[in-house]
Amino acid sequence: MISTGIDDISLYTSSFYLDMHTLAEKRNADYSKYTDGIGIERISIPSPDEDIITLAANAALPVVQRCDKTKIGTLLFATESGVDQSKSAAVFVHRLLDLPSTCRTVELKQACYSSTAAVQAACALVARNPQKTVLVITADVAHYPLESPGEATQGCGAVAMLITENPRILEIHPESGCCSADCWDFWRPNYSNYPLYDGKFSMINYVKTCKAAWKELSEIRGISFDQIDRFCYHLPFSTMGLKAHLKLAREAGSQKSAAELENQLEPIIQYCKVIGNCYSASLYFALCSLLDNAPERLENKLVALFAYGSGCSGEFYTGTFQPGYKKCIRTETNKKLIRARKEIDFDTYLKFHHAADPIGENAGDCTTPETTEGAFRYCGIKDHCRIYEPCSKNAQ
Ligand code: HMG
Repeated sequence: MISTGIDDISLYTSSFYLDMHTLAEKRNADYSKYTDGIGIERISIPSPDEDIITLAANAALPVVQRCDKTKIGTLLFATESGVDQSKSAAVFVHRLLDLPSTCRTVELKQACYSSTAAVQAACALVARNPQKTVLVITADVAHYPLESPGEATQGCGAVAMLITENPRILEIHPESGCCSADCWDFWRPNYSNYPLYDGKFSMINYVKTCKAAWKELSEIRGISFDQIDRFCYHLPFSTMGLKAHLKLAREAGSQKSAAELENQLEPIIQYCKVIGNCYSASLYFALCSLLDNAPERLENKLVALFAYGSGCSGEFYTGTFQPGYKKCIRTETNKKLIRARKEIDFDTYLKFHHAADPIGENAGDCTTPETTEGAFRYCGIKDHCRIYEPCSKNAQ
């Protein structure tokens, strides 16, 4: 059996963030509700010239610079913040990164779950033809109505992963446990800028799906909860992962105490706490957070990853961290990027928030002010075509 998995991984988020002190003051809410109740201190907010395409291209640039790009046979772009109903987000990024014309390009959607569908499809493609690699990019902007319960769980970001044979970071095992069921916990109709959701039901459904997916995985692999060294969860906010972990541990008969279980998740929530929800990218931000913040060396350690996408689809799968993985990850770059973001005041937040509305005032020709600190920018719309260019201000 060919070993496949993540050979390289890189993250990117907006150059700007809103501090929860600012939101708490304006919403007349307790700061501790945000930090302790949902586990978020800051949220990344895209500037008017940042969107999933620029986030994705910025995340993938270091991966493409480090690999032989002539070997990239497929680009899979997972998102639920698509910028076009027909043309895939992958095609825009394909041009910005100057990928070979022989590379296949496609976009995948199933709420936050699609990134894991992309990773699994990528492993299958590599197993079929190990001469070619697959670039998986997952990028989203979590954009909720102002003053709604979801407002504090906004965020944005992208993770790019190179899936290859004999991966240097994480070998992904072929077995997984899946659970799908048609339900209405969170969705966004084509005519709406914002998702519709039932927050409490979505949390219950997340846990139910998590338990069902774990049951299938543990039966197929004959593995117990306590044999897993680390867990990564889709994190719409960090306490969601913790709630699911505690409930799953009880159901699965874990001998670990609540404090040990909380401690087990500590490294994976670090980035969610300061970036917020990145929808399909959130699980892979949690993985990056683990790689960058685990106190122990992860070589040969077993990790279980749970993907959840409202609507709904869930999947639990496992992987083994590879010897020497630390030489391939980007811990300092990631931490520096997150630290270097600029704080925005409330008025700027409102301006950025309205600029991210995909339908309405931005439907015709428009131009965006040059604001981002990234390497690529969204310049606006001309003759109904979205225009993206390298950002001259930030050229490396
Ligand atoms: P809410 O009504 O604002 O908050 O909604 P709450 O009143 O339920 O409080 C939240 C927590 O803070 C509670 O803890 C409070 O007790 C606590 P819990 O009871 O749950 O343990 N709290 C405080 N703690 C400390 N100090 C205080 C304080 N006050 C209260 N002063 C909710 C919260 C998450 C429901 C809302 O933000 C929401 O609807 N978010 C959007 C939906 C969502 O994220 N669902 C998660 C599961 S679905 C999913 O993950 C998929 C998704 O990513 C989309 C996709 O798949 O594409 C969303």
